[in-house]
Amino acid sequence: MADSRAEVAVIGGSGFYEFLDDATHVPLTTPYGDPSAPVAIGTVGGTRVAFVPRHGEHHAYPPHLINYRANLWALRSLGVRQVLAPCAVGGLLPSVSPGDIVVPDQLVDRTSGRVQTYVERGAVHAPFADPYCERLSNAVAGVDPDVKQGGAMVVIEGPRFSSRAESLSYAAQGWSLVNMTGHPEAVLARELLMCYSAIALVTDMDAGIEAGEGVGQAEVFAMFAANIARLKQILTRVLGDLPSPDGCACSSWAEGIDLTYEVP
Ligand code: ADE
Repeated sequence: MADSRAEVAVIGGSGFYEFLDDATHVPLTTPYGDPSAPVAIGTVGGTRVAFVPRHGEHHAYPPHLINYRANLWALRSLGVRQVLAPCAVGGLLPSVSPGDIVVPDQLVDRTSGRVQTYVERGAVHAPFADPYCERLSNAVAGVDPDVKQGGAMVVIEGPRFSSRAESLSYAAQGWSLVNMTGHPEAVLARELLMCYSAIALVTDMDAGIEAGEGVGQAEVFAMFAANIARLKQILTRVLGDLPSPDGCACSSWAEGIDLTYEVP
């Protein structure tokens, strides 16, 4: 039974499957439906790690149709307390360039209509001033001097990319990254009392920023594939030197609050 438990998880592209040694696949369902795929549990450098491919096997789910609630709930039900979330992002400001790996510290929700909470009754208001776990984010940024830390990631509904005007308006706000999957992952992790850090790979400069044709899917996918080994290296280092989640504000916020949903 110990085999199907893990305290740390990675949510990422399916390219991370081969990252785990001795992976077993745990078919799970949740009160919110099925996760994107069976969760894989295996070992990375001696640490038990759960992995769920965000978009499912063979990229079945586009960003707006991912069952984020089921993914996070499934991980928590396996004992996960810390989530590392690599993702592809577009760059919006000259402070970032394609190929950069950035740990953002802020999030802006520009999605529409996504279910973003487990709260269905009662007074439960998760704090979200700082959407990402500071401890975990510092640990990620600390493993490699090339990892950039800070910046706001705006999450759009997708699946289309932004128009030039949208892109320029995000940049004018001072937001440095744009992505389609970062919300509601971070807030659902917070509601389930888990630490969560995004690890953003800049795959392109977004439409308003580039003078050329605008962003294309092929460019994004190729850039992600070309950098997956670097991301894995960073993840391996972080997994080998994780901070303790004990006493972290990501879980202690709920002390004294009557959570009206089940935290498994
Ligand atoms: N993911 C990768 N690049 C992106 C972009 N330019 N906009 C939204 N999501 C992205």
